[in-house]
Parts: sequence; C-alpha cells; structure tokens
Amino acid sequence: MHYLRKPGWAIPEREATPEAVFMRRRTFLAGSLGAIAGGLLGLRGPVQAAEPEDPTRDLYPAPRNPAFTLDRPLTDENVAASYNNFYEFGPMKTVAWLAQRLKIRPWQVRVEGLVRKPKTFDIDELIRAMPLEERLYRFRCVEAWAMAVPWTGFPFAALVKKVEPLSDARYVKFTTFLDRTVALGQLRFWYPWPYVEGLTMAEAMNELTLLVTGVYGHPLPKQHGAPLRLIVPWKYGFKSIKSIVAIEFTRERPKTFWETLVPHEYGFWANVNPAFAHPRWSQAEERMLGTDEVRPTLIFNGYGEWVAGLYPDLNDRRYFM
Ligand code: MTE
Repeated sequence: MHYLRKPGWAIPEREATPEAVFMRRRTFLAGSLGAIAGGLLGLRGPVQAAEPEDPTRDLYPAPRNPAFTLDRPLTDENVAASYNNFYEFGPMKTVAWLAQRLKIRPWQVRVEGLVRKPKTFDIDELIRAMPLEERLYRFRCVEAWAMAVPWTGFPFAALVKKVEPLSDARYVKFTTFLDRTVALGQLRFWYPWPYVEGLTMAEAMNELTLLVTGVYGHPLPKQHGAPLRLIVPWKYGFKSIKSIVAIEFTRERPKTFWETLVPHEYGFWANVNPAFAHPRWSQAEERMLGTDEVRPTLIFNGYGEWVAGLYPDLNDRRYFM
C-alpha cells in the first residue's frame, strides 16, 4: 500500500503494504512477469468488446441526501479514479486500466444464507428496485490517505427488506468475483481469493451502510468496484469491498481476506481511530488525495454520532484494527 507523498512519520513505501509482509520479491517478479505477459498479449486496455452503455445510466444523478455533509472539499474525480486499491488486478495504485478487463454485464448478486427469501438478483433489476440516493462521505484508507466522495447507492437495510433475514443471522459476509482469466492479480496464489469482507448485523443495518452503484453522479467505474460495492465510512477502506457477487447472512463471524493474510494488522472491526496506531505507522493524521492536505484523523472517521454506540468499549484496541 502506498502514499502519494510520504509524510514524516511514514515508513518507506515498500514496507507500508500487507503485500510486503509476504514475499516482496516474489510479488515483484510476478508483477513484472504479469506486466510483460500483458504487454505481449496486448492486454493494455479492455479485452472484451466495448461495454454497452450502462443500462442504469438514466438513474443518475440520484437525489442527494442532505443528512450527510462534509467538513472538507470533494476529492477531484480524476484523482479518485486513478489511485485505487483493487488487488484482484494487482497491488499497485495504478490498476484502473487493468480493471477495465472486468465484464460487468451480465452480473448477478446472490443473497443467501440465513434468510427467509434467498434470491439471485440480476444487477439491473436490483438497482432499479432500490431507492438510489447520493451521499457525500469521507473515506479513510488504513494506509493513512483519505478522500471525500459523492457515492450513489442504497442503504443495505433496503436490501434486507427484500430477503428477510432469520433471527439467528448475526453477521453478513460479502464476496467479490473470482475469475483468474480476467483479474490477473488473482493469479497470485498466496492470497486467499476471493476477497471477502464482513459486518455484524447491527453494523450492516446501520443507516450509514451503503451498497454503492455510482459515484460523482454516474454509474461506478470498474476501478471503484462496479457494478456493486460496499461503503462503510466509519471503517478503514479495506472493509468497503468491491464488485460483490454474493451477500450471505451467517451465524458465524466470516473470516475476511485481510484478516486471513495479516490478522495482527488488519482485523475484522477496523474502525477508524487516531488513538490506535497501525503496528507499522501512526493513524493520528491522514493525507487528502489530490491536495496532499494533512488533517487530523477523526474517531470513527467523524461518524461517531451514528456508530459509537455499536462499540461498548472505546479503549478496546480490538475494535480499531
Ligand atoms: N475490494 C476488493 N474486492 N479488492 C480490493 O483490493 N481494496 C480495498 C477496498 N475494497 C479492495 C476492495 C481497499 S484497501 C481500499 S482503500 C478501497 O477498496 C479503495 O477503494 P477505491 O479504489 O474505490 O478508492
């Protein structure tokens, strides 16, 4: 994981990544070989025939929900769209061009597990059935960069009404697509693909929890996790899983992608808190993408009013990593 420009407290860029915990040299080699192979095979740019116009484009821009305001300017759209984490396509920030390989129609999302009415939704059917709205949210990556983004989506709670979870559902597990022919990063066999994330039911049902289909007033670009991603703005960005294919209601806590890889650095809870440093860097400040403005990190990324009650002990480190 990288910084645009290193603040004084940052450790060298090459060490600031979970990737680095594992086989740094192998990663580099695999990345280089992948890039060479990609070049040889002419993979720069979309491999499929051009995607048809997004069938839901007419739904944008969606009405803005005035309940969510910002204390900082919006991040420039082009900056947000060209500095991404999407490990399925590689560990570098410049994955946007590789992410164009993802085919986002047809796309289905399975909603399953401990629910009365499990259902596989066609993505366009789902998006059209949901109350789309725009929300301005702060976004805080665990790597200490941040942005402010107008997401479009619908509350997770609106989906819940459609499937009716059973009373023994305690967690929600989210899963990203798995396709090694498209996502070259998934050839890195030492990662526990597919990418999985999880929330408690109370977190998932919180008013802030958004299933996102668009950004900056139009459908989501692929590098941001089209056609459907999660946004949980009070948690570090790795919880906001991209390109979801399955949502499962479970009794047991799901084991997440990063928790499986580096449990002592990237836990299940991952709530933003300036007081608890990451084992390898401070979380006291954050750097805004695009402007490099350094700001103090806010507890729960400034969303304590909505979520502080979910975590009984604010001194419990477990909740903040
Ligand atoms: N989801 C998937 N499937 N794969 C990923 O690598 N990276 C996470 C999160 N969701 C990631 C993912 C991390 S670490 C961050 S910070 C955000 O996506 C980045 O979102 P953005 O690229 O839209 O800014």
